[in-house]
Amino acid sequence: MREIPSVEPFDAVVGRLILMYLPDPAGVLRSLCRLVRRGGVLAFQEPSWLPVLALSAGLPLWSACSSLIVEAFQCSGVDAEMGPALYGIFLAAGLPAPTMHMDVLLGSEPDFARGIHDILCSLRPQMERFKLKLATLGDFDTVPARLHAEAAASKSVAPFVAVVGAWCRKPYDPDEKTGMPS
Ligand SMILES: C[S@@+](CC[C@H](N)C(=O)[O-])C[C@H]1O[C@@H](n2cnc3c(N)ncnc32)[C@H](O)[C@@H]1O
Repeated sequence: MREIPSVEPFDAVVGRLILMYLPDPAGVLRSLCRLVRRGGVLAFQEPSWLPVLALSAGLPLWSACSSLIVEAFQCSGVDAEMGPALYGIFLAAGLPAPTMHMDVLLGSEPDFARGIHDILCSLRPQMERFKLKLATLGDFDTVPARLHAEAAASKSVAPFVAVVGAWCRKPYDPDEKTGMPS
């Protein structure tokens, strides 16, 4: 991402669930900013799992799945709380303070439960590599059905990963922000 060629400045740089994987997100944001025209937009969405952990506290299987996912991210060097960290990342990149908000999808239907299982499936190799306690979930293949049953029995909704959005415009005045990338 640091090597994207640019003939003309872009109107916007938009990214979702990407800075969380990078060792130097502020450095990448700073270099991406150089590709954007003054007045152009920089907008990113990154996750926060803390609301999921809090909101699933009364749903043991949902809670166990979410905890394992967060543990797998942490072991892999991925920042599962990149969403709230976006504020500091924008400032560290020399950008203005971003406008931010957070969305948490809630649900209990079978497709909703399968979303969590999909994340578990994609992280399963990392969970096995780091010897995380996958067995605490019971039979892996029946996790989606049991997630759905647990939410249905509780007569409530379960949370999906929270998505935090942050955006700002590249300042027009080069002196507006000290250290602004040119
Ligand atoms: C969770 S996916 C998000 C994909 C898409 N932005 C979306 O929101 O659906 C994470 C993406 O980041 C990419 N990625 C991870 N580390 C990267 C890196 N160091 N450089 C470039 N891409 C990377 C992966 O290949 C993957 O496509």
